[in-house]
Amino acid sequence: PATARRTSDGSVEIGGVALTELAASGGTPVYVLDELDARERARAYRDAFAAACAEAGTEVDVYYAGKAFLSVAVARWMTAEGLRIDTASLGELTTALRADVAPRDIGLHGNNKSEPEIDLALRSGIGRLVLDSLPEVTRVADAARALGVRAPVMVRVTTGVHAGGHEYISTAHEDQKFGLSLAAPDGGDSPALVAVLAVLERPELELLGLHSHIGSQILDPAGFGVAARAVMGLRAAVARRTGVLVPELDLGGGFGVAYLPGEVPLDPDRAAKEMVSALADAARELGEGDAPLPRLSIEPGRSVIGPAGVTLYTVGTVKPVRTEDGSTRTYVSVDGGMSDNIRPALYGASYHAEIVSRSSTAPAVRCRVVGKHCESGDIVVHDVALPGDVAAGDLLAVAVTGAYGRSMASTYNLVPRPGVVAVAGGVATPIVRRESVADLLALDLG
Ligand code: LLP
Repeated sequence: PATARRTSDGSVEIGGVALTELAASGGTPVYVLDELDARERARAYRDAFAAACAEAGTEVDVYYAGKAFLSVAVARWMTAEGLRIDTASLGELTTALRADVAPRDIGLHGNNKSEPEIDLALRSGIGRLVLDSLPEVTRVADAARALGVRAPVMVRVTTGVHAGGHEYISTAHEDQKFGLSLAAPDGGDSPALVAVLAVLERPELELLGLHSHIGSQILDPAGFGVAARAVMGLRAAVARRTGVLVPELDLGGGFGVAYLPGEVPLDPDRAAKEMVSALADAARELGEGDAPLPRLSIEPGRSVIGPAGVTLYTVGTVKPVRTEDGSTRTYVSVDGGMSDNIRPALYGASYHAEIVSRSSTAPAVRCRVVGKHCESGDIVVHDVALPGDVAAGDLLAVAVTGAYGRSMASTYNLVPRPGVVAVAGGVATPIVRRESVADLLALDLG
């Protein structure tokens, strides 16, 4: 995180809070969130996209994707920085409402929204529901009619662009669960166009926009441009057919971060320029002349909260193990693991770790940081150089765990989930309480 620094005794502080003190007072494992860092990243997205859009004569709304990590405090930080909140479940939606986010500044996603989700969204008057299928058009319209309200909706389309990691691929076919395809292989109307026409036929629905999300951890912005053009094409087709010019396009999230030292994250300015210039190019090619560009929205999650967070663990056992090639690897076991960060096991994700309770002059050794779960795939960091004198009691921090760590945590082995502590200005504030075995047992009906 931006405010992390090593002090003269070799220990690390974040937000002016010594991690050793944090561990001593609240225990480990714990997720530590650098509030200023997260807020600065939120602002960077808002500023970069506002500038690029202003230059092109349009405007932008930035929605923080709560799936990366949402709590009442984080929702408040985001709205204080001018962001809105994107939710994808009853829990996320309720959390945003609990944080007093203005309902009109909340969006709701999901490929299989439940009745209670749709009901809460409509009753509280949220700003938009992103429709993901044809049955959902009917479901939400019927629910809105029953409640006597008009539902603001977007239609999520799949553009055939799938991005993530270093490359993007563009295909004509879709074989995944999200959205409605822009492809019309039989020459008829695409599923996306059919859904938009269905929305326009229902007076209970207000068509706000078209939505596209192409993937996550994207480092090459080119895919955003391809998707933007594709969605502009659908917008033009809708206008030709119905005379309706859809006012807004949401181009989703997915902006990549640097997980390891030396990696280069996707720069918000570059992403903004790529998206906005693709919109402008598409408008020109489509012969839209001087008509204003659609309003833009985006939904960054990982890139706002990921780099702001670290997970703090205490080292337990240290064990040298002979590998197949005859060399030695040191297995460093910590007091958490795949229950607080499933990403290495699930995606083979790489992380960086450091000892943060002291400095060491011992030569580095090749280490693998592993958790405490009963599973050999319980790996926190596959490969990292740590001081050769790494020992029980050392505090180890794993970087860039603010996104999809706590939000995907489990209680595997009935290990309670760690709490989340926000640090800023020398003050540590718990924002999510550590779970206890008693919490877990409270669910057990005996
Ligand atoms: N908008 C929509 C519609 C999404 O589906 C997602 C992520 C986002 C925004 C935010 O994407 P971000 O900016 O955070 O990349 N669990 C996986 C990531 C799954 C992302 C799913 N959708 C991981 O840990 O890498």
